[in-house]
Amino acid sequence: MRLSLLFLVCCCTVMRILPQCATAAKARHFRWEVSNMFWSPDCEEKVLIGINGQFPGPTIRAKAGDTIVVELKNGLHTEGVVIHWHGIRQIGTPWADGTASISQCAINPEETFTYRFVVDKPGTYFYHGHYGMQRAAGLYGSLIVDVADGEEEPFKYDGELNLLLSDWYHESIYTQMVGLSSKPFRWIGEPQSLLINGRGQFNCSLAAAHTPGAKQCAVAGGGNRHCAPVILPVLPNKTYRLRVASTTSLASLNLAVGNHKLTVVEADGNYVDPFLVDDIDIYSGDSYSVLLTTNQNPSANYWISVGVRGRQPKTSPALAILNYRPNRASNLPPSPPPPTPAWDDFARSKSFTHRILGLAGNTPPPPAKSDRRIELLNTQNRMDGHIKWSINNVSMVLPSTPYLGSLKMGLKSAMPPSSESPSDTFGRGYDVTRPPANPNTTAGGNLYVIAHNATVDVVLQNANALARNVSEVHPWHLHGHDFWVLGYGEGMFDEKLASAAFNLRNPPLRNTAVIFPYGWTAIRFVADNPGVWAFHCHIEPHLHMGMGVIFAEAVDRVGELPKAAVSCGATATALMAGNGGGHV
Ligand code: C2O
Ligand code: CU
Repeated sequence: MRLSLLFLVCCCTVMRILPQCATAAKARHFRWEVSNMFWSPDCEEKVLIGINGQFPGPTIRAKAGDTIVVELKNGLHTEGVVIHWHGIRQIGTPWADGTASISQCAINPEETFTYRFVVDKPGTYFYHGHYGMQRAAGLYGSLIVDVADGEEEPFKYDGELNLLLSDWYHESIYTQMVGLSSKPFRWIGEPQSLLINGRGQFNCSLAAAHTPGAKQCAVAGGGNRHCAPVILPVLPNKTYRLRVASTTSLASLNLAVGNHKLTVVEADGNYVDPFLVDDIDIYSGDSYSVLLTTNQNPSANYWISVGVRGRQPKTSPALAILNYRPNRASNLPPSPPPPTPAWDDFARSKSFTHRILGLAGNTPPPPAKSDRRIELLNTQNRMDGHIKWSINNVSMVLPSTPYLGSLKMGLKSAMPPSSESPSDTFGRGYDVTRPPANPNTTAGGNLYVIAHNATVDVVLQNANALARNVSEVHPWHLHGHDFWVLGYGEGMFDEKLASAAFNLRNPPLRNTAVIFPYGWTAIRFVADNPGVWAFHCHIEPHLHMGMGVIFAEAVDRVGELPKAAVSCGATATALMAGNGGGHV
Protein backbone atom coordinates (compact mmCIF):
# COMPACT_ATOMS: atom_id res chain seq x y z
CA MET A 1 0.00 0.00 0.00
CA ARG A 2 2.69 2.46 1.07
CA LEU A 3 4.91 1.32 -1.79
CA SER A 4 2.30 1.75 -4.48
CA LEU A 5 1.46 5.20 -3.17
CA LEU A 6 5.10 6.10 -3.25
CA PHE A 7 5.31 4.77 -6.80
CA LEU A 8 2.38 6.93 -7.80
CA VAL A 9 3.91 10.00 -6.20
CA CYS A 10 7.29 9.40 -7.86
CA CYS A 11 5.84 8.80 -11.30
CA CYS A 12 3.65 11.84 -11.02
CA THR A 13 6.54 14.01 -9.99
CA VAL A 14 8.99 12.79 -12.55
CA MET A 15 6.92 11.87 -15.57
CA ARG A 16 3.41 13.18 -15.03
CA ILE A 17 2.13 10.31 -17.11
CA LEU A 18 -0.62 8.72 -15.09
CA PRO A 19 -4.12 10.15 -15.42
CA GLN A 20 -4.27 10.51 -11.62
CA CYS A 21 -1.33 12.89 -11.86
CA ALA A 22 -3.22 15.94 -13.07
CA THR A 23 -3.86 16.97 -9.47
CA ALA A 24 -1.39 14.66 -7.78
CA ALA A 25 0.88 16.32 -5.30
CA LYS A 26 4.59 15.89 -4.81
CA ALA A 27 6.58 14.22 -2.13
CA ARG A 28 9.33 16.57 -0.97
CA HIS A 29 12.31 14.90 0.64
CA PHE A 30 14.69 16.47 3.12
CA ARG A 31 17.67 14.94 4.88
CA TRP A 32 18.45 16.92 8.01
CA GLU A 33 20.94 16.60 10.81
CA VAL A 34 20.41 18.48 14.04
CA SER A 35 23.56 19.51 15.87
CA ASN A 36 25.05 21.93 18.35
CA MET A 37 27.19 24.60 16.76
CA PHE A 38 28.90 27.87 17.50
CA TRP A 39 26.86 30.78 16.19
CA SER A 40 26.58 34.53 16.77
CA PRO A 41 22.93 35.46 16.21
CA ASP A 42 23.45 38.92 17.74
CA CYS A 43 27.24 39.06 17.11
CA GLU A 44 27.99 37.43 20.52
CA GLU A 45 29.23 33.88 20.01
CA LYS A 46 27.22 31.15 21.76
CA VAL A 47 26.33 27.50 21.17
CA LEU A 48 22.93 26.83 19.65
CA ILE A 49 21.04 24.01 17.95
CA GLY A 50 21.06 24.23 14.18
CA ILE A 51 20.13 22.01 11.25
CA ASN A 52 22.57 21.06 8.48
CA GLY A 53 24.95 23.73 9.75
CA GLN A 54 22.34 26.48 9.41
CA PHE A 55 20.51 28.71 11.84
CA PRO A 56 17.55 29.11 11.58
CA GLY A 57 17.00 25.69 10.02
CA PRO A 58 16.28 25.36 6.28
CA THR A 59 12.98 26.76 5.03
CA ILE A 60 10.55 24.15 3.78
CA ARG A 61 8.52 25.35 0.83
CA ALA A 62 5.73 23.17 -0.52
CA LYS A 63 2.34 23.24 -2.20
CA ALA A 64 -0.90 22.33 -0.52
CA GLY A 65 -1.43 18.59 -0.82
CA ASP A 66 2.27 17.76 -0.93
CA THR A 67 3.80 15.13 1.30
CA ILE A 68 6.78 16.31 3.32
CA VAL A 69 9.36 13.68 4.18
CA VAL A 70 12.06 14.73 6.63
CA GLU A 71 14.68 12.16 7.58
CA LEU A 72 15.86 13.70 10.80
CA LYS A 73 19.18 12.57 12.20
CA ASN A 74 20.00 13.51 15.76
CA GLY A 75 23.58 14.77 15.76
CA LEU A 76 23.43 16.09 19.34
CA HIS A 77 25.88 14.12 21.45
CA THR A 78 23.99 13.47 24.64
CA GLU A 79 20.31 14.34 24.32
CA GLY A 80 17.24 13.29 22.36
CA VAL A 81 15.44 15.47 19.87
CA VAL A 82 12.06 15.82 18.11
CA ILE A 83 10.66 18.42 15.71
CA HIS A 84 7.08 19.71 15.77
CA TRP A 85 5.45 21.13 12.62
CA HIS A 86 3.58 24.02 14.12
CA GLY A 87 0.19 24.64 12.48
CA ILE A 88 0.20 21.43 10.42
CA ARG A 89 -2.74 19.39 11.66
CA GLN A 90 -1.23 15.96 10.95
CA ILE A 91 -4.56 14.58 9.78
CA GLY A 92 -4.17 10.81 9.98
CA THR A 93 -0.50 11.00 11.01
CA PRO A 94 -0.54 11.91 14.73
CA TRP A 95 2.77 10.06 15.24
CA ALA A 96 4.48 12.71 13.06
CA ASP A 97 3.49 15.63 15.30
CA GLY A 98 6.94 15.72 16.89
CA THR A 99 6.12 16.09 20.58
CA ALA A 100 8.37 14.19 23.00
CA SER A 101 6.43 12.21 25.64
CA ILE A 102 3.21 12.79 23.70
CA SER A 103 3.36 11.67 20.06
CA GLN A 104 6.67 9.84 19.91
CA CYS A 105 9.83 8.70 21.66
CA ALA A 106 12.61 11.27 21.43
CA ILE A 107 15.15 10.39 18.74
CA ASN A 108 18.37 9.15 20.36
CA PRO A 109 21.77 10.59 19.45
CA GLU A 110 23.02 9.21 16.13
CA GLU A 111 19.57 7.80 15.29
CA THR A 112 17.23 8.91 12.52
CA PHE A 113 13.46 9.27 12.53
CA THR A 114 11.45 9.91 9.38
CA TYR A 115 8.64 12.45 9.58
CA ARG A 116 6.16 11.90 6.76
CA PHE A 117 3.04 14.05 6.62
CA VAL A 118 0.80 15.97 4.24
CA VAL A 119 0.62 19.75 4.24
CA ASP A 120 -3.04 20.00 3.40
CA LYS A 121 -3.60 23.74 3.65
CA PRO A 122 -1.72 26.75 2.22
CA GLY A 123 -0.32 29.16 4.78
CA THR A 124 2.58 30.46 6.82
CA TYR A 125 3.88 27.94 9.31
CA PHE A 126 7.08 27.02 11.10
CA TYR A 127 8.69 24.09 12.82
CA HIS A 128 10.56 23.81 16.07
CA GLY A 129 12.02 21.51 18.70
CA HIS A 130 9.48 20.19 21.20
CA TYR A 131 11.63 18.48 23.80
CA GLY A 132 12.66 20.30 26.96
CA MET A 133 13.42 23.86 25.94
CA GLN A 134 15.17 23.05 22.65
CA ARG A 135 13.09 25.58 20.75
CA ALA A 136 14.68 28.33 22.84
CA ALA A 137 18.11 26.93 21.92
CA GLY A 138 17.47 27.87 18.29
CA LEU A 139 15.89 24.71 16.89
CA TYR A 140 13.39 26.25 14.48
CA GLY A 141 12.74 27.28 10.89
CA SER A 142 10.01 28.33 8.43
CA LEU A 143 7.50 26.09 6.68
CA ILE A 144 5.60 27.80 3.90
CA VAL A 145 2.80 26.16 1.97
CA ASP A 146 1.66 27.69 -1.31
CA VAL A 147 -1.74 27.08 -2.85
CA ALA A 148 -2.04 23.95 -4.96
CA ASP A 149 -1.56 24.26 -8.72
CA GLY A 150 -4.61 25.79 -10.31
CA GLU A 151 -5.77 27.40 -7.04
CA GLU A 152 -5.56 31.07 -6.17
CA GLU A 153 -5.10 33.10 -3.02
CA PRO A 154 -8.00 35.48 -2.27
CA PHE A 155 -5.62 38.47 -2.69
CA LYS A 156 -2.94 39.57 -5.13
CA TYR A 157 0.69 40.44 -4.65
CA ASP A 158 3.84 40.87 -6.71
CA GLY A 159 6.46 39.51 -4.36
CA GLU A 160 6.99 37.93 -1.01
CA LEU A 161 9.19 38.48 2.04
CA ASN A 162 9.55 36.08 4.94
CA LEU A 163 10.23 37.15 8.53
CA LEU A 164 10.67 34.51 11.22
CA LEU A 165 10.82 36.29 14.57
CA SER A 166 12.37 34.96 17.75
CA ASP A 167 14.02 36.09 20.96
CA TRP A 168 17.48 35.13 22.12
CA TYR A 169 19.10 34.51 25.50
CA HIS A 170 22.81 34.45 26.19
CA GLU A 171 22.38 31.87 28.98
CA SER A 172 22.10 28.30 27.71
CA ILE A 173 18.76 26.49 27.98
CA TYR A 174 20.39 24.20 30.57
CA THR A 175 21.12 27.16 32.81
CA GLN A 176 17.59 28.40 32.18
CA MET A 177 15.98 25.03 33.00
CA VAL A 178 18.02 24.59 36.18
CA GLY A 179 16.98 28.08 37.30
CA LEU A 180 13.30 27.41 36.66
CA SER A 181 13.34 24.32 38.86
CA SER A 182 15.66 25.64 41.57
CA LYS A 183 14.84 26.66 45.12
CA PRO A 184 14.81 29.57 45.26
CA PHE A 185 13.38 29.97 41.81
CA ARG A 186 15.52 31.79 39.24
CA TRP A 187 13.54 33.43 36.47
CA ILE A 188 15.10 33.54 32.98
CA GLY A 189 14.49 37.29 32.71
CA GLU A 190 14.01 39.19 29.50
CA PRO A 191 15.85 38.13 26.31
CA GLN A 192 19.15 39.78 25.39
CA SER A 193 18.01 40.36 21.81
CA LEU A 194 15.19 39.91 19.35
CA LEU A 195 16.01 38.13 16.11
CA ILE A 196 14.61 38.53 12.61
CA ASN A 197 15.44 35.45 10.51
CA GLY A 198 17.97 34.54 13.19
CA ARG A 199 19.81 37.89 13.21
CA GLY A 200 19.76 40.56 15.88
CA GLN A 201 21.65 43.43 17.45
CA PHE A 202 22.96 43.31 20.99
CA ASN A 203 24.31 46.38 22.80
CA CYS A 204 24.08 48.54 19.69
CA SER A 205 21.46 49.94 17.35
CA LEU A 206 21.37 50.12 13.59
CA ALA A 207 19.53 53.40 14.09
CA ALA A 208 21.93 54.90 16.65
CA ALA A 209 21.51 58.31 14.99
CA HIS A 210 17.91 58.29 16.26
CA THR A 211 18.51 56.44 19.55
CA PRO A 212 20.13 58.61 22.22
CA GLY A 213 23.03 56.89 23.96
CA ALA A 214 23.12 53.90 21.59
CA LYS A 215 26.25 52.76 19.84
CA GLN A 216 25.98 52.28 16.07
CA CYS A 217 26.03 48.59 15.00
CA ALA A 218 28.17 47.75 12.03
CA VAL A 219 25.80 47.70 9.10
CA ALA A 220 27.28 44.58 7.58
CA GLY A 221 27.51 42.82 10.96
CA GLY A 222 31.16 43.88 11.18
CA GLY A 223 32.01 41.14 8.70
CA ASN A 224 30.17 38.52 10.77
CA ARG A 225 27.70 36.90 8.41
CA HIS A 226 25.65 35.45 11.28
CA CYS A 227 24.51 38.85 12.51
CA ALA A 228 24.51 41.01 9.40
CA PRO A 229 21.15 42.80 9.48
CA VAL A 230 18.28 41.52 7.40
CA ILE A 231 17.81 43.47 4.18
CA LEU A 232 14.56 43.05 2.29
CA PRO A 233 14.86 44.24 -1.31
CA VAL A 234 11.71 45.65 -2.91
CA LEU A 235 10.78 47.61 -6.03
CA PRO A 236 8.66 50.77 -5.84
CA ASN A 237 4.92 50.59 -6.49
CA LYS A 238 4.51 46.90 -5.96
CA THR A 239 2.55 44.92 -3.39
CA TYR A 240 4.44 42.49 -1.20
CA ARG A 241 3.21 39.73 1.01
CA LEU A 242 5.11 39.75 4.29
CA ARG A 243 4.92 36.43 6.04
CA VAL A 244 5.56 36.93 9.74
CA ALA A 245 5.73 34.14 12.30
CA SER A 246 6.88 34.21 15.92
CA THR A 247 8.63 31.37 17.68
CA THR A 248 9.78 33.46 20.65
CA SER A 249 10.53 31.79 23.94
CA LEU A 250 8.95 34.57 25.97
CA ALA A 251 8.40 37.86 24.18
CA SER A 252 5.14 39.14 22.72
CA LEU A 253 6.06 41.28 19.76
CA ASN A 254 4.88 44.16 17.63
CA LEU A 255 6.03 44.70 14.07
CA ALA A 256 5.84 47.96 12.14
CA VAL A 257 7.30 49.22 8.88
CA GLY A 258 8.25 52.92 8.77
CA ASN A 259 5.78 55.02 6.67
CA HIS A 260 3.90 51.95 5.43
CA LYS A 261 0.52 50.55 6.37
CA LEU A 262 -0.17 46.84 6.48
CA THR A 263 -3.24 44.86 5.44
CA VAL A 264 -3.70 41.66 7.44
CA VAL A 265 -4.89 38.82 5.19
CA GLU A 266 -3.86 35.56 6.85
CA ALA A 267 -3.55 34.32 10.43
CA ASP A 268 -2.15 30.87 11.34
CA GLY A 269 -2.71 29.43 7.87
CA ASN A 270 -6.28 30.74 7.56
CA TYR A 271 -7.53 33.68 5.52
CA VAL A 272 -9.00 36.55 7.48
CA ASP A 273 -11.28 39.42 6.56
CA PRO A 274 -8.64 41.95 5.38
CA PHE A 275 -8.05 44.97 7.64
CA LEU A 276 -5.62 47.86 7.55
CA VAL A 277 -3.26 48.60 10.44
CA ASP A 278 -0.12 50.61 11.27
CA ASP A 279 1.52 47.63 12.97
CA ILE A 280 0.71 44.10 14.13
CA ASP A 281 0.95 42.39 17.49
CA ILE A 282 2.34 38.91 17.25
CA TYR A 283 2.47 36.41 20.10
CA SER A 284 4.62 33.33 20.29
CA GLY A 285 3.03 30.66 18.11
CA ASP A 286 1.20 33.14 15.85
CA SER A 287 1.76 33.61 12.15
CA TYR A 288 0.38 36.30 9.84
CA SER A 289 0.53 37.45 6.27
CA VAL A 290 0.26 41.17 5.70
CA LEU A 291 0.26 43.05 2.40
CA LEU A 292 2.47 46.10 2.03
CA THR A 293 2.48 48.45 -0.96
CA THR A 294 5.76 50.20 -1.73
CA ASN A 295 4.12 53.54 -2.42
CA GLN A 296 6.48 55.79 -0.42
CA ASN A 297 9.31 58.04 -1.57
CA PRO A 298 11.43 55.63 -3.61
CA SER A 299 14.68 57.48 -2.95
CA ALA A 300 14.77 56.28 0.68
CA ASN A 301 14.93 52.99 2.52
CA TYR A 302 12.63 52.24 5.50
CA TRP A 303 12.95 50.53 8.87
CA ILE A 304 11.17 47.38 9.81
CA SER A 305 11.03 47.41 13.58
CA VAL A 306 10.15 44.62 16.01
CA GLY A 307 9.66 45.45 19.68
CA VAL A 308 8.40 43.84 22.89
CA ARG A 309 4.84 44.16 24.15
CA GLY A 310 2.93 42.74 27.10
CA ARG A 311 5.91 42.72 29.52
CA GLN A 312 8.06 45.65 30.53
CA PRO A 313 10.75 45.49 27.84
CA LYS A 314 14.44 45.28 28.65
CA THR A 315 15.33 44.26 25.12
CA SER A 316 16.06 46.70 22.30
CA PRO A 317 13.94 46.45 19.18
CA ALA A 318 15.27 44.40 16.28
CA LEU A 319 15.61 46.33 13.05
CA ALA A 320 15.68 45.26 9.41
CA ILE A 321 15.89 47.39 6.30
CA LEU A 322 13.21 47.61 3.63
CA ASN A 323 15.47 48.40 0.73
CA TYR A 324 13.78 50.22 -2.16
CA ARG A 325 15.85 49.23 -5.16
CA PRO A 326 18.03 50.57 -6.71
CA ASN A 327 19.01 52.43 -3.49
CA ARG A 328 21.98 50.92 -1.73
CA ALA A 329 21.02 48.82 1.26
CA SER A 330 23.67 50.65 3.28
CA ASN A 331 21.76 53.95 2.93
CA LEU A 332 20.18 53.85 6.36
CA PRO A 333 16.61 55.14 6.47
CA PRO A 334 16.58 58.89 7.20
CA SER A 335 13.63 58.76 9.61
CA PRO A 336 13.63 57.13 13.07
CA PRO A 337 12.36 53.53 13.31
CA PRO A 338 8.63 53.28 14.09
CA PRO A 339 8.27 53.10 17.87
CA THR A 340 6.69 50.05 19.49
CA PRO A 341 3.35 50.91 21.17
CA ALA A 342 3.47 51.12 24.98
CA TRP A 343 4.07 47.60 26.32
CA ASP A 344 1.10 47.79 28.69
CA ASP A 345 -1.43 49.37 26.32
CA PHE A 346 -3.61 46.27 26.46
CA ALA A 347 -6.63 48.13 25.10
CA ARG A 348 -4.65 48.58 21.88
CA SER A 349 -3.64 44.89 21.81
CA LYS A 350 -7.23 43.84 22.33
CA SER A 351 -8.56 46.06 19.58
CA PHE A 352 -6.03 44.53 17.16
CA THR A 353 -6.89 40.99 18.24
CA HIS A 354 -10.64 41.60 18.05
CA ARG A 355 -10.34 42.78 14.46
CA ILE A 356 -9.18 39.34 13.30
CA LEU A 357 -12.24 37.66 11.77
CA GLY A 358 -12.81 34.81 9.36
CA LEU A 359 -12.97 35.64 5.65
CA ALA A 360 -16.58 35.41 4.48
CA GLY A 361 -17.18 32.64 1.97
CA ASN A 362 -13.87 31.05 2.89
CA THR A 363 -13.82 30.28 6.62
CA PRO A 364 -16.38 27.60 7.50
CA PRO A 365 -18.64 28.64 10.39
CA PRO A 366 -18.43 26.66 13.64
CA PRO A 367 -21.09 24.13 14.65
CA ALA A 368 -23.90 26.04 16.38
CA LYS A 369 -23.59 24.09 19.65
CA SER A 370 -20.90 22.28 21.53
CA ASP A 371 -21.11 18.86 23.17
CA ARG A 372 -18.70 19.63 25.97
CA ARG A 373 -17.16 22.64 27.61
CA ILE A 374 -13.77 22.43 29.27
CA GLU A 375 -12.86 25.39 31.46
CA LEU A 376 -9.20 25.85 32.22
CA LEU A 377 -8.16 28.20 35.00
CA ASN A 378 -4.59 29.44 34.54
CA THR A 379 -2.80 30.11 37.83
CA GLN A 380 0.71 30.52 39.12
CA ASN A 381 1.35 28.40 42.18
CA ARG A 382 3.86 26.86 44.53
CA MET A 383 4.82 23.21 44.86
CA ASP A 384 7.32 22.21 47.58
CA GLY A 385 8.97 25.59 47.29
CA HIS A 386 9.08 25.54 43.49
CA ILE A 387 7.11 27.93 41.32
CA LYS A 388 4.73 26.32 38.82
CA TRP A 389 1.93 27.18 36.43
CA SER A 390 -1.23 25.17 36.95
CA ILE A 391 -4.38 24.43 35.05
CA ASN A 392 -7.37 23.88 37.34
CA ASN A 393 -4.77 23.63 40.07
CA VAL A 394 -2.74 20.83 38.48
CA SER A 395 0.67 21.54 36.97
CA MET A 396 1.34 19.36 33.91
CA VAL A 397 4.14 16.81 33.95
CA LEU A 398 4.90 14.57 30.99
CA PRO A 399 5.25 10.77 31.17
CA SER A 400 8.41 8.85 30.32
CA THR A 401 6.47 6.72 27.83
CA PRO A 402 4.76 8.84 25.15
CA TYR A 403 0.96 8.85 25.39
CA LEU A 404 0.16 7.97 21.81
CA GLY A 405 1.87 4.57 22.10
CA SER A 406 0.86 3.80 25.67
CA LEU A 407 -2.80 4.69 25.11
CA LYS A 408 -2.98 2.81 21.84
CA MET A 409 -1.44 -0.26 23.44
CA GLY A 410 -3.62 0.13 26.51
CA LEU A 411 -0.69 0.36 28.94
CA LYS A 412 -2.14 1.82 32.12
CA SER A 413 1.21 1.58 33.86
CA ALA A 414 2.62 4.17 31.51
CA MET A 415 0.27 6.88 32.72
CA PRO A 416 1.65 9.68 34.92
CA PRO A 417 1.45 9.26 38.72
CA SER A 418 -1.80 11.14 39.25
CA SER A 419 -3.76 9.96 36.26
CA GLU A 420 -7.20 10.69 37.72
CA SER A 421 -9.22 12.53 35.09
CA PRO A 422 -8.74 16.24 35.36
CA SER A 423 -11.71 18.49 35.93
CA ASP A 424 -13.79 20.12 33.17
CA THR A 425 -14.37 23.10 35.39
CA PHE A 426 -13.06 24.99 38.39
CA GLY A 427 -14.72 26.49 41.46
CA ARG A 428 -16.62 29.65 40.57
CA GLY A 429 -15.66 31.05 43.97
CA TYR A 430 -12.08 31.59 42.75
CA ASP A 431 -11.10 35.26 42.79
CA VAL A 432 -9.18 35.92 39.57
CA THR A 433 -8.31 39.44 40.67
CA ARG A 434 -6.04 38.38 43.55
CA PRO A 435 -3.09 36.04 44.14
CA PRO A 436 -4.32 32.51 44.90
CA ALA A 437 -5.72 32.23 48.44
CA ASN A 438 -4.09 28.81 48.70
CA PRO A 439 -1.09 28.85 46.37
CA ASN A 440 -0.25 25.14 46.79
CA THR A 441 -0.59 22.97 43.73
CA THR A 442 0.06 19.38 42.68
CA ALA A 443 1.52 17.77 39.58
CA GLY A 444 -0.44 15.58 37.17
CA GLY A 445 -0.91 14.49 33.60
CA ASN A 446 -3.81 16.85 32.73
CA LEU A 447 -4.92 14.24 30.20
CA TYR A 448 -8.41 14.86 28.84
CA VAL A 449 -10.05 12.04 26.92
CA ILE A 450 -12.17 13.48 24.10
CA ALA A 451 -14.87 11.55 22.24
CA HIS A 452 -14.53 11.14 18.48
CA ASN A 453 -16.21 13.98 16.55
CA ALA A 454 -17.31 15.81 19.69
CA THR A 455 -17.60 19.58 19.37
CA VAL A 456 -15.57 20.94 22.25
CA ASP A 457 -15.51 24.43 23.71
CA VAL A 458 -12.53 25.44 25.79
CA VAL A 459 -12.63 28.49 28.00
CA LEU A 460 -9.21 29.69 29.03
CA GLN A 461 -9.54 31.73 32.20
CA ASN A 462 -6.68 34.00 33.19
CA ALA A 463 -6.08 35.07 36.79
CA ASN A 464 -3.71 36.98 39.02
CA ALA A 465 -0.24 35.43 39.37
CA LEU A 466 1.53 34.92 42.73
CA ALA A 467 2.50 38.58 43.01
CA ARG A 468 -0.19 41.17 43.58
CA ASN A 469 -1.46 43.11 40.56
CA VAL A 470 0.28 40.85 38.07
CA SER A 471 -1.57 38.89 35.41
CA GLU A 472 0.35 37.85 32.33
CA VAL A 473 -0.37 37.30 28.65
CA HIS A 474 -0.44 33.63 27.58
CA PRO A 475 -0.69 32.55 23.95
CA TRP A 476 -2.25 29.06 23.91
CA HIS A 477 -1.50 26.74 21.01
CA LEU A 478 -3.43 23.62 20.04
CA HIS A 479 -1.86 20.72 18.16
CA GLY A 480 -3.82 18.63 15.65
CA HIS A 481 -6.51 21.22 14.97
CA ASP A 482 -7.50 24.70 14.04
CA PHE A 483 -10.14 26.18 16.33
CA TRP A 484 -12.62 29.03 16.04
CA VAL A 485 -12.06 31.87 18.46
CA LEU A 486 -15.58 32.53 19.74
CA GLY A 487 -14.85 35.45 22.01
CA TYR A 488 -12.78 37.27 24.57
CA GLY A 489 -13.91 38.76 27.85
CA GLU A 490 -12.80 40.49 31.01
CA GLY A 491 -12.76 39.04 34.53
CA MET A 492 -14.40 35.77 35.46
CA PHE A 493 -16.15 33.94 32.61
CA ASP A 494 -19.90 34.19 33.06
CA GLU A 495 -21.56 31.31 31.30
CA LYS A 496 -24.86 33.00 30.45
CA LEU A 497 -23.55 36.38 29.39
CA ALA A 498 -20.59 34.99 27.54
CA SER A 499 -22.17 32.24 25.49
CA ALA A 500 -24.85 34.68 24.33
CA ALA A 501 -22.10 36.96 23.05
CA PHE A 502 -20.08 34.26 21.24
CA ASN A 503 -19.32 35.09 17.63
CA LEU A 504 -20.73 32.17 15.67
CA ARG A 505 -21.05 34.16 12.45
CA ASN A 506 -17.49 34.91 11.34
CA PRO A 507 -15.01 33.84 14.03
CA PRO A 508 -11.44 33.35 12.81
CA LEU A 509 -9.93 29.90 12.57
CA ARG A 510 -6.54 29.76 14.27
CA ASN A 511 -4.17 27.41 16.06
CA THR A 512 -3.00 29.92 18.68
CA ALA A 513 -5.12 32.27 20.79
CA VAL A 514 -4.02 34.70 23.44
CA ILE A 515 -5.51 35.24 26.88
CA PHE A 516 -5.13 38.79 28.12
CA PRO A 517 -4.42 39.70 31.75
CA TYR A 518 -7.43 39.03 34.01
CA GLY A 519 -9.53 37.96 31.01
CA TRP A 520 -10.83 34.83 29.29
CA THR A 521 -10.82 33.48 25.75
CA ALA A 522 -13.28 30.91 24.39
CA ILE A 523 -12.52 28.59 21.47
CA ARG A 524 -14.38 25.75 19.74
CA PHE A 525 -13.04 22.79 17.78
CA VAL A 526 -14.36 19.52 16.39
CA ALA A 527 -12.50 16.43 17.59
CA ASP A 528 -12.27 14.86 14.15
CA ASN A 529 -8.56 14.03 14.14
CA PRO A 530 -7.70 10.94 16.21
CA GLY A 531 -4.43 11.38 18.08
CA VAL A 532 -2.91 12.76 21.26
CA TRP A 533 -2.59 16.51 21.08
CA ALA A 534 -0.86 19.02 23.30
CA PHE A 535 -2.65 22.25 24.17
CA HIS A 536 -0.38 24.63 26.00
CA CYS A 537 0.96 28.08 26.59
CA HIS A 538 3.52 28.73 23.85
CA ILE A 539 5.83 30.59 26.20
CA GLU A 540 8.68 28.09 26.55
CA PRO A 541 9.41 28.57 30.28
CA HIS A 542 5.68 28.53 31.11
CA LEU A 543 5.20 25.18 29.34
CA HIS A 544 8.28 23.93 31.14
CA MET A 545 6.67 25.00 34.43
CA GLY A 546 3.54 22.95 33.70
CA MET A 547 1.26 25.25 31.72
CA GLY A 548 -0.52 22.79 29.49
CA VAL A 549 -3.01 19.97 29.05
CA ILE A 550 -3.24 16.97 26.71
CA PHE A 551 -6.23 15.98 24.60
CA ALA A 552 -6.41 12.25 23.83
CA GLU A 553 -8.81 11.97 20.97
CA ALA A 554 -10.25 8.63 19.76
CA VAL A 555 -6.87 6.90 20.05
CA ASP A 556 -8.50 3.57 19.11
CA ARG A 557 -8.97 5.00 15.62
CA VAL A 558 -5.30 5.88 15.13
CA GLY A 559 -3.59 3.83 12.41
CA GLU A 560 -0.46 1.73 12.74
CA LEU A 561 2.28 3.59 14.61
CA PRO A 562 5.81 3.56 13.21
CA LYS A 563 7.98 1.30 15.42
CA ALA A 564 10.47 4.10 15.98
CA ALA A 565 7.74 6.22 17.59
CA VAL A 566 7.22 3.64 20.35
CA SER A 567 10.75 2.31 20.82
CA CYS A 568 11.16 3.61 24.36
CA GLY A 569 9.79 3.10 27.86
CA ALA A 570 6.86 0.83 28.56
CA THR A 571 5.80 0.58 24.91
CA ALA A 572 9.23 -0.83 23.99
CA THR A 573 8.98 -3.36 26.82
CA ALA A 574 5.49 -4.39 25.77
CA LEU A 575 6.59 -4.76 22.16
CA MET A 576 9.47 -7.00 23.20
CA ALA A 577 7.17 -9.13 25.30
CA GLY A 578 4.86 -9.44 22.33
CA ASN A 579 2.03 -7.56 24.08
CA GLY A 580 0.16 -5.31 21.81
CA GLY A 581 2.55 -6.11 19.00
CA GLY A 582 -0.33 -6.65 16.65
CA HIS A 583 -2.08 -3.51 17.81
CA VAL A 584 0.61 -1.04 17.11
CU1 C2O B 1 4.69 25.53 18.56
CU2 C2O B 1 3.40 22.64 21.19
O1 C2O B 1 4.11 24.13 19.94
CU1 CU C 1 2.13 31.40 29.58
